[in-house]
Amino acid sequence: MNEKEIVLSGIRATGNLHLGNYYGALSKFVKMQEDYDCLYFIADLHALTTNPDPKALHENVLNILAEYLAAGVDPDKATIFVQSDVPEISEMYLLLNMHVGIGELLRTTSFKDKARKQLGLSGADEGDIEKQIIGSETNKRVNAGLLTYPTLMAVDILIQKAHKVPVGKDQEQHLELTRRFARRFNSFYNVDLFPEPENFNFGGHAVKVPGLDGSGKMGKSEGNCIYLVDEEKVLRKKVMRAVTDEGPKEPNQPISEPVQNLLTLMELTSTPEIVQSYRDAYADCSIRYGDMKKQLAEDILKVTTPIRERYAEIRADKDYIAKVVRQGADRARERASKTLEEVRRAMGIVKFY
Ligand code: ADP
Ligand code: TRP
Repeated sequence: MNEKEIVLSGIRATGNLHLGNYYGALSKFVKMQEDYDCLYFIADLHALTTNPDPKALHENVLNILAEYLAAGVDPDKATIFVQSDVPEISEMYLLLNMHVGIGELLRTTSFKDKARKQLGLSGADEGDIEKQIIGSETNKRVNAGLLTYPTLMAVDILIQKAHKVPVGKDQEQHLELTRRFARRFNSFYNVDLFPEPENFNFGGHAVKVPGLDGSGKMGKSEGNCIYLVDEEKVLRKKVMRAVTDEGPKEPNQPISEPVQNLLTLMELTSTPEIVQSYRDAYADCSIRYGDMKKQLAEDILKVTTPIRERYAEIRADKDYIAKVVRQGADRARERASKTLEEVRRAMGIVKFY
């Protein structure tokens, strides 16, 4: 009998992983595998919601698997799998959708953001997004898979009966919906199938890693990412080009957003002493952004270089990657098939022959 709490998390197969993914999710995956029963997967079905090129999708699945392994996720400690290798997820997605409201999906922030992009609308159209979606022409559509993205994510979590879900801050609304769906299912069928999962941050707050372009978060679609596999030269160049301000004009003035973003990155990668020294330098107006960026690039490279080196080796070994995910799929399907059977039974889908 396994007594450990269950941890589950995934990342969509949409490109290489960046520092936001690393500090928001992957670094926690590595730490948590020591103490929990962990399952980590590649969300290839979720990636389909933005209609990727099929070849690129397949490559991205392999890239992210290799990045998980290179960052230290250990297949002997954690289960690593590909979402589409567990068909039970797709079946339960259909079943759970029967208890999910269209209204609550339409109001999800990530849906509105992505729908706006699919329709090619600018931020100003926000208030009107629901009308725009309903009135949109068939050649400019928002696909139904995008709307039901949170159902699929909830199923990923609930089918494994996970307690903890390490993700970045931007995923908290999806987790809130997952808890709501779990409560609703339990109470509608008067069962006690699903625990209510929560985010996990080792006692700290959920992280939001900023971009280097002055405002907002680091994200693939923002085009402001430092990738774990960026070559040294490329990475240094990106950091040296980071947006700052014109320098503090008077002592102890509030720190501007772009400089605070650099400090936030430093807090993640450098020592507290180094971060404090730059805070002090800002306060007494002696700060030199060139030095600060050089330091930051060095400290980021200390984190990413070993990952990049291992990545190249692992990515070239397709047989090894295949072995890992084959074993992972078997393990993930074990619990998923049990849960699916319980869900079917609760709902009255019962074989009688
Ligand atoms: P992206 O936003 O680049 O498309 P994903 O949505 O695939 O990345 O995110 C995968 C994981 O990484 C999620 O757990 C998400 O919360 C986390 N994540 C992504 N960007 C950031 C960020 N800038 N700061 C913190 N966590 C992030
Ligand atoms: N929605 C998550 C993201 O964009 C990816 C994801 C899909 C996920 N299913 C999940 C994360 C289940 C945690 C648990 O990053």
